[in-house]
Amino acid sequence: MDKVQDTIDLLKMYNQEHIIKLLERLEGEKKQALIEQISKIDFHQLKELYDNTKRKIEIKENKIEPLPYLDKKKLSKEQKETFQKLGEAVLEKGEYAVVTMAGGQGTRLGHSGPKGTFKLDVYGKGKYLFEILAENLKQANQKYGKIIPWYIMTSKENNNATIQFMEKHNYFGYDKNSVRFFTQSELPIVDVDGKLLVGKDMRIKEASDGNGGTYSSLRASGCLAEMKERGIKWVFIGGVDNALLKMADTVLLGMAIDKKVQIASKSIVKANPHERVGVFAKMNGHPKVIEYSEMPDKMAEEVDEDGELKYGEAHIMCNLYTIEAIEKISKETLIYHTAFKKNAYIDKNGKEVIPQRENSYKFESFIFDAFELFDDIAILRGKREDDFAPVKNKEGVDSPKTAKELYEKFWNR
Ligand code: UD1
Repeated sequence: MDKVQDTIDLLKMYNQEHIIKLLERLEGEKKQALIEQISKIDFHQLKELYDNTKRKIEIKENKIEPLPYLDKKKLSKEQKETFQKLGEAVLEKGEYAVVTMAGGQGTRLGHSGPKGTFKLDVYGKGKYLFEILAENLKQANQKYGKIIPWYIMTSKENNNATIQFMEKHNYFGYDKNSVRFFTQSELPIVDVDGKLLVGKDMRIKEASDGNGGTYSSLRASGCLAEMKERGIKWVFIGGVDNALLKMADTVLLGMAIDKKVQIASKSIVKANPHERVGVFAKMNGHPKVIEYSEMPDKMAEEVDEDGELKYGEAHIMCNLYTIEAIEKISKETLIYHTAFKKNAYIDKNGKEVIPQRENSYKFESFIFDAFELFDDIAILRGKREDDFAPVKNKEGVDSPKTAKELYEKFWNR
């Protein structure tokens, strides 16, 4: 009984009285489950996150500069060979692991399953996004004579479906023992008044906490410890939705080793000022990605003396870290960004409300916000036609149609 009272007290303390009413209507297992879920919520953190929605992000207050990079196609032959050799040695020693972030919902694409299970209509038969990634890794395994451990991050929502899919397709020929799944965490959604929402299933509505959760989830799941046991020295983290993603680029890896940095990333030139990609910059002396959703128009359009975009190095989710860097980041709390979304909920009379407009905040941390924890990053500018075929939208730019064209063009070359 005490547990019920404790929950009620907690809800009162954080102005969530509306949940008490719903709790009173419940009995048995459903009631227990809701109490259990509430007991796991960090209300203090949630209040802070909600309070932050009232504050504006002021990029102007900070010192922002472009970030230096090396252009892959402009490297001298010697430089390229030096990098390649350094990178290859890591792969040959089996000190390289790969993480695929596959916890996103893929809402924009309109695909109902996990995004990696989307089939891109290439070469007649088509290929699943997970299949394309597996092929890329298998190629590297063959070249360097080691099997790269592959860690796949799922969400609570899509974890089972992802595993079932990979089982059904026999991991696309990848060594099953070298694949490990781990799940990212979630945070409650709150409405414009900071109130928790309850769904039809009579549970508090929660959503994945963004791809910045990768680091802490690697630690919490034991994957980081496993990597260390395996003697991994470098970890690549990439997305699930780029059909031209190169997960074992030895030039990028060697460049990071040569420059003695802990983090590295591949960029491409931004196609136009308003392309929906984050861009690299230096903020108050630290590396940073400014996300497209938070970039002021004026800054996006700024050009340098050569007429090129001043902030034109696009972040394409092709990021590399030393194991020490992952270890360090996994202990930090990254900042959270807010997305305003539509979410259905149960009102205090137990009736479902389906909002016509955005009514609630979702909190997400971003993978690249960890870059600020370091003094330096090595950026290698790649080529759009070699490195970037995103599958984001159902139609138009960055759609299956454009990704198919880019993928086939690359492989025909
Ligand atoms: C992302 C980058 C953006 C970059 C662009 C390139 C972020 C926040 N933004 O934008 O800087 O220029 O890709 O294509 O990363 N994911 C999870 N869990 C989550 C949310 C996302 O695993 O909770 C994964 C997705 O499955 C996907 C990747 O992260 O693999 C990218 O997520 P998405 O939200 O689609 O990012 P974009 O808006 O495309």
